[in-house]
Amino acid sequence: MKVLVVGSGGREHALAWKISQSPLVTEVLCAPGNAGTHALGRNVPVAATDLDGLVACAQSEGVGLVVVGPEDPLCLGLVDRLKAVDVPVYGPSADGARLEGSKVFMKEFLERHRIPTGAWRRFDRSGAAKSYLESNSVWPVVVKADGLAAGKGVFVCHDTKEACGVVDAIMEERKLGAAGDEIVIEEFIEGRELSVHAITDGRTLLILEPVMDHKQVGDGDTGPNTGGMGIYSPVSFVSQRLMRQIEQRVLIPTLHALSVEGIEYQGTLFAGLMITEAGPRVLEYNCRFGDPETQAIMRRLDSDLVPILLASANGTLEELDPPDWKSASCVGVVAAAEGYPGDYEKGYVISGLQAADALDDVVVFHAGTRQDGGQVLTNGGRVLCVTATAHGLEAAREKAYRGYEAIEWAGKFCRRDIGLPRPQRPGELESESFVHEGDELV
Ligand code: GLY
Repeated sequence: MKVLVVGSGGREHALAWKISQSPLVTEVLCAPGNAGTHALGRNVPVAATDLDGLVACAQSEGVGLVVVGPEDPLCLGLVDRLKAVDVPVYGPSADGARLEGSKVFMKEFLERHRIPTGAWRRFDRSGAAKSYLESNSVWPVVVKADGLAAGKGVFVCHDTKEACGVVDAIMEERKLGAAGDEIVIEEFIEGRELSVHAITDGRTLLILEPVMDHKQVGDGDTGPNTGGMGIYSPVSFVSQRLMRQIEQRVLIPTLHALSVEGIEYQGTLFAGLMITEAGPRVLEYNCRFGDPETQAIMRRLDSDLVPILLASANGTLEELDPPDWKSASCVGVVAAAEGYPGDYEKGYVISGLQAADALDDVVVFHAGTRQDGGQVLTNGGRVLCVTATAHGLEAAREKAYRGYEAIEWAGKFCRRDIGLPRPQRPGELESESFVHEGDELV
């Protein structure tokens, strides 16, 4: 069977890498892909938002499964278009993708179904938002653009001036375009952030191993937010009890609520959670796999991914055995371009990729790269994610940074503290520590 992966980032390379290992698969196509997916299969020059082109490609190639990586084509209705022509596809319909595509929809949905989340208000005029902020006495607050903003639509604001500046930038200067037609102003919740992914067919949930993402650009969680600067898994503060709470208080109620509202949801349900003293609360929902979280999930998943994706698409997840996971830990270090998450240059020649990939247990996933003849060039802000597996996070960390050091281009940088315990902040749960060989998630 041919599988078409839609997208061009590290998540798509990781999905294509795992999918290509399946005995069910004869060829992996990627649209449009990057230099990493080029090495695994065949890139097709169709943009991830070109719905007509993607449907035509899936049909002409006789693809047996389309796996949609990014949120934009999901929100635009790619899954609905493919289903209409009977092409099996992994991902939710546009209706379901509103959980990510509109923060207002997501917050109203959570509220309607009493799924735990922070207190919030919606605004469609900047004047009303600023009046509210001027009367607010509890800081910080979180200001979020309603629509898709490629990870750039969430702002933690510490006083009225900062928050009103953000409101002006979004609603008056329209820096995020139509994504900022409405905003959400939300209570800032103290706790520990955690990403939990589940795969669903609308009835059955398959909860994947939790992953921790480092979102800020600087060591010690400083500087602006990014799409994610590195990941590690397993996460030592996550107990089985906590996972049960997340399943019972968040994921199952969400699936039930989707069904009650007549939304057929198949694909990934990715909950961005804050774990508080009172239990998990939803910060956001995403309708696709996280990037770079997927890179760690794919490195740790021992079972074949393809039957799982097909079962989600076909509504037969209940018939599958739970997947096997490697006991090894995984650390992934994002190698980024100087200037990211602000402006950065593209087109630098990357060297050392083969040397890094040749290291034991190291796999380099490409994110912003492109093939140019025999060379691989930088083509984005997050350029690579260097992953390593080992017994224990400390050893995985050491291997991942060794892989990172083998790679060179002008202006490369990374965070140096991926996978390290960080100082406890007010309101956080018990301190986090390395999971060493033989440790179990309890
Ligand atoms: N790493 C966060 C995301 O994919 O949204």
